[in-house]
Amino acid sequence: MSTQPSALAAHAVPARTIYASKKILVLGATSGIAEATCRIWAAEGASLFLVGRNAEKLAAVAADLKVRGAHYVDTAVADLDDTAKHPELLAHAINSLTGLDIAYLAHGVLGDQSHAEADFEVAAQILHTNFTAPVSILTWLANHMVQRKAGILAVISSVAGDRGRKSNYVYGASKAGLSAFLGGLRNRVDREGVTVLTIKPGPVKTAMTSSMKGSEKFADVNAVARSIAAAVSARKDTLYVPFQWQPIMFIIRNIPERVFKKLNL
Ligand SMILES: NC(=O)c1ccc[n+]([C@@H]2O[C@H](COP(=O)([O-])OP(=O)(O)OC[C@H]3O[C@@H](n4cnc5c(N)ncnc54)[C@H](OP(=O)(O)O)[C@@H]3O)[C@@H](O)[C@H]2O)c1
Repeated sequence: MSTQPSALAAHAVPARTIYASKKILVLGATSGIAEATCRIWAAEGASLFLVGRNAEKLAAVAADLKVRGAHYVDTAVADLDDTAKHPELLAHAINSLTGLDIAYLAHGVLGDQSHAEADFEVAAQILHTNFTAPVSILTWLANHMVQRKAGILAVISSVAGDRGRKSNYVYGASKAGLSAFLGGLRNRVDREGVTVLTIKPGPVKTAMTSSMKGSEKFADVNAVARSIAAAVSARKDTLYVPFQWQPIMFIIRNIPERVFKKLNL
């Protein structure tokens, strides 16, 4: 006796199992924003490969995500500044996940602007972590996804990259470079079935901003994570989060330079 297809579908493929096929690589998984996003994906039954440089923190995040419903969690401890190790790390992650649907790049440093103004080595380190290392990772992953004609690259840049300001222009330059790279990469790979999402958060309450003046008024990390997860699902190109940063940055980008150079921003 044959089984009715509709009955089979109802029993064999619950919605949660469909999402469990999502295989997600997270670089900088101990970041506050990444962790909050991974909690959403874990609750939906995703498979996660988490990369972070702090072994203890990474193990705690992995254990939490398992409890929250992740289908599969594996980890690798790595300093992502070490670009020579990227190919081996990324191949290992994809092997562990037995495929890759989404790569989420979240690692980054704010750096110390005044030290970076005084010492080029400090500036170069910020540029390396926030720009050069992501370019290395994205080049490898984009080529992998283009070969398979599928995949999503979701990358956290920043509104700080939309216009250089005296208070954080080295960090801003690293994110401006990253946003420009992502725009060009999207222009290359979108026609190959690969989505590139540029995520531009305004100030968010995480470890990165906890010592900043007024940080209690910054955006809630869980709300930011919900917007990011939705933008990934919708295969968006760019996400300003919270959304009001899109018109704010439009205005800031369009302030004439003769005025802007006199502002204390
Ligand atoms: N918070 C904001 O207001 C804000 C606004 C716009 C954009 N962003 C961007 O959002 C992303 C996430 O930041 P967050 O707010 O979640 O801050 P966070 O909690 O401080 O996360 C930053 C993460 O990057 C990791 N990291 C830094 N350098 C690394 C390296 N060389 N190798 C491996 N991991 C490294 C840190 O690891 P450790 O824990 O080991 O230090 C940390 O987990 C960053 O790219 C940041 O620039 C944040």
